[in-house]
Amino acid sequence: MACQYFAPCEHGAGSFTIAIPKVTFGRGTLSEVGQRVTALGMKNVALFTDPQLASGPYVATVSDSIKAAGLSCQIFSEIRVEPDETSVDSGAAFLREGNFDGMISVGGGSVMDTAKAAMVCALYPSPVRHYFAKPIGEGIAVPGPLLPHIACPTTSGTGSECTSVSVIRINDLNTKFVFASPYMMPDQAVIDPACCDSLPANVVASTGFDLLSHAIECYTAKAYTQWAEVKNPNARPLIQGANPWSDLAATKALQIAGEYLVRGVADADDHEARDQLMWGASLAGMAFGNSGTHLPHALSYAVTHLMNDITTDGYAVKSPFVPHGISVIVTAPATFRYTAEAAPERHLEAAQYLGADLNGAGLDDSGELVANRIIQLMRETNMPNGLSGVGFGESDVARLTDSSIRQTRAIANAPRDSNRVDLENIYRDAVSYW
Ligand SMILES: [Fe+2]
Repeated sequence: MACQYFAPCEHGAGSFTIAIPKVTFGRGTLSEVGQRVTALGMKNVALFTDPQLASGPYVATVSDSIKAAGLSCQIFSEIRVEPDETSVDSGAAFLREGNFDGMISVGGGSVMDTAKAAMVCALYPSPVRHYFAKPIGEGIAVPGPLLPHIACPTTSGTGSECTSVSVIRINDLNTKFVFASPYMMPDQAVIDPACCDSLPANVVASTGFDLLSHAIECYTAKAYTQWAEVKNPNARPLIQGANPWSDLAATKALQIAGEYLVRGVADADDHEARDQLMWGASLAGMAFGNSGTHLPHALSYAVTHLMNDITTDGYAVKSPFVPHGISVIVTAPATFRYTAEAAPERHLEAAQYLGADLNGAGLDDSGELVANRIIQLMRETNMPNGLSGVGFGESDVARLTDSSIRQTRAIANAPRDSNRVDLENIYRDAVSYW
């Protein structure tokens, strides 16, 4: 690959691996799920969803299509927003008792991530924590294949339908942790953008900023050639750094976010904008699922889990929490200001893909340009003003850093190295933007 960003490095990776599911996109495609179930040879199907969606039209469409195919499914909906180890354990127990031969997930990232993790724990029994990398877990590799899985997203942000990643909350550590395996990739993603028609504006905004940050983080991640080559190609981690494939999907996702995010938040009847955001979210999933994210995601988990007195409109959650996309975007401008000097061309291009006016700006301006464009989009969609907008101040910087510094692989995927003081400075810069 003749590209300066991917210049060969001594002892660095000389190849990259891409994996995506079979993808179907379009309005009305949820009604095709039954035929897809038949084609995959499923006979006894588990349908994972959340308590709100379980009695709604999307799950009804999917289960009706399964019935029309002459099959039946059993619904599991004990999945909380920001799923934790209990959600996974319950899902695994359901799968073991039902002796299922296939999985359908209908929901946002919480549902799809729980489905993946529950299949792992049902088929290869072990506490989910053991699958997390050390020092949080034992770093156990998923031993083998899971059930055939059709993932159907109902929000436009997570991209989980196109990744082999699961993110699970660890309550006693006040954080989330990622585990991944090629076996966790859904076989098919059925993406019906009509699911976004009824989403509240704040959910479209939060999930939209998740997709936006996935895309910038992919595009500005350390090049795959900067990671050490692995001896066993089958064990190559999916957090492998930016590569030509992730560039392709991430840059298109950035253009979509820049053009359609404000429109999609402002007007639920703007189907063009909401459809585009759904496609952008899946593209960003196809990108970061093959490159990994970096600092904004590494810093976000503490923001979600250390806040205990805030609620957010649009989410059916009784306990206080900060939605994932908001937890990511409140530190993103400060993060990209920090990382820009290590990859200024990429930050400049990211700003341009997002629709920033470069107006003769140079590489030294790239961090400010991308930060300012994100801040502009945050203001136009009524997002919180940095960490202070979700209840944190300077006095919280130390405990936020204590929690985040454990996200070692994501931190190492950033283009610029960072130590504890650097992370504290990013959090400090993220307290308020306007
Ligand atoms: Fe995310």
